[in-house]
Amino acid sequence: MTPQEIRTLLESIVDSDLDQSLGSLGAIHEIEVIGNRVRVFLDAVQPLHWAAKRLDHDCKSTIRAVYPGAEIEILVREKGGVARRMPTLSGIKNLIAVASGKGGVGKSTVAANLAAALAQRGASVGLLDADIYGPSQPTMYGLSSETMRAEKSADGKVIGYPNEAYGVKVASIGFVMQRDQAAILRGPMLAGYFTMLVEQIVWGELDYLIFDLPPGTGDIQLTLTQRIPLTGAVVVTTPQEIALADVRRSIQMFSKVKVDVLGVVENMSYFVPPDMPDRKYHIFGEGGGQSVAKEFSVPFLGEIPIDVRVRQGADDGFPFVLDPESGSLGDAFRSVAENIVREIRKANARAVDTVVEISL
Ligand SMILES: Nc1ncnc2c1ncn2[C@@H]1O[C@H](COP(=O)(O)OP(=O)(O)OP(=O)(O)O)[C@@H](O)[C@H]1O
Ligand SMILES: [Mg+2]
Repeated sequence: MTPQEIRTLLESIVDSDLDQSLGSLGAIHEIEVIGNRVRVFLDAVQPLHWAAKRLDHDCKSTIRAVYPGAEIEILVREKGGVARRMPTLSGIKNLIAVASGKGGVGKSTVAANLAAALAQRGASVGLLDADIYGPSQPTMYGLSSETMRAEKSADGKVIGYPNEAYGVKVASIGFVMQRDQAAILRGPMLAGYFTMLVEQIVWGELDYLIFDLPPGTGDIQLTLTQRIPLTGAVVVTTPQEIALADVRRSIQMFSKVKVDVLGVVENMSYFVPPDMPDRKYHIFGEGGGQSVAKEFSVPFLGEIPIDVRVRQGADDGFPFVLDPESGSLGDAFRSVAENIVREIRKANARAVDTVVEISL
């Protein structure tokens, strides 16, 4: 058993998220062999909250198939990501916007449960509620009576610290301004205020910062997408045609400002009555999310049914996905989170490629 033999075995393993082999990804950094002990050092495209376990398993089983007695250790190091110019964002690996064209389709619900699902998976997560007219995250995270801790930094700038619940750092424009105060601000002023908020909150090191955007394609959305180096955007819709028209506008806005659309989540896809679990009612129509994703050649990230427990969790300040009894409904959210993470890895792999191309 030599390092070269092990390398040859591992090179053909496919990183299924990226659909490329570890060899072609340049993921095998180093291999040490001492007697029957093997240590493999991998450099894999982040984030690895689902992939690390799979890579570990695939590498071990591939080596064991040829060397059954080998003692194997796989050490995975993260690579990939984008350098951020803004100092407050420099410690954040992935910036994700959750957006929609139409209001009330469940962006905030998806953002809240996505953040919670990622934190439960071991990630460090921040959630920024950017909806000035109707901030939801303080309520959805049970933080509505909190205020944001703020202080003056050495150079006289005001900096604020997010609040924390369920392992997620939450900051909202609602912590720093009243709703009726927001109502008198218009367009560019609002966008300026939002930029200030982004520049002043100290997040520290994060795997993901999720932006819960207000509905539509207005100033806030444009400011965010143009000024902030987003990893990508997740677009939420309900299945009916009237929502899809707005989704198209939203996707077009992101492609115009060259932000990757990570995919479409369809919320309120169907209703299963608790007393008739074999029935499924497509209240808002069927298949709309899938068809719009297909139309724009972006991934379809999954369906979330309508369920009173989701609404209740949101009102009670508890992201439903964290309920140990969340069952198949929780799985729907977790599967959306896993699919989003896969698309983030793809985006980061493309970014890695871009860097390589530029340096040639
Ligand atoms: N899958 C679901 N099942 C049941 N209720 C849901 C579901 N998704 C969202 N809701 C409820 O629908 C309402 C609207 O959801 P939410 O606030 O997440 O939408 P939004 O797109 O963020 O709205 P806005 O455009 O106002 O920001 C909330 O009361 C929420 O609890
Ligand atoms: Mg909202």
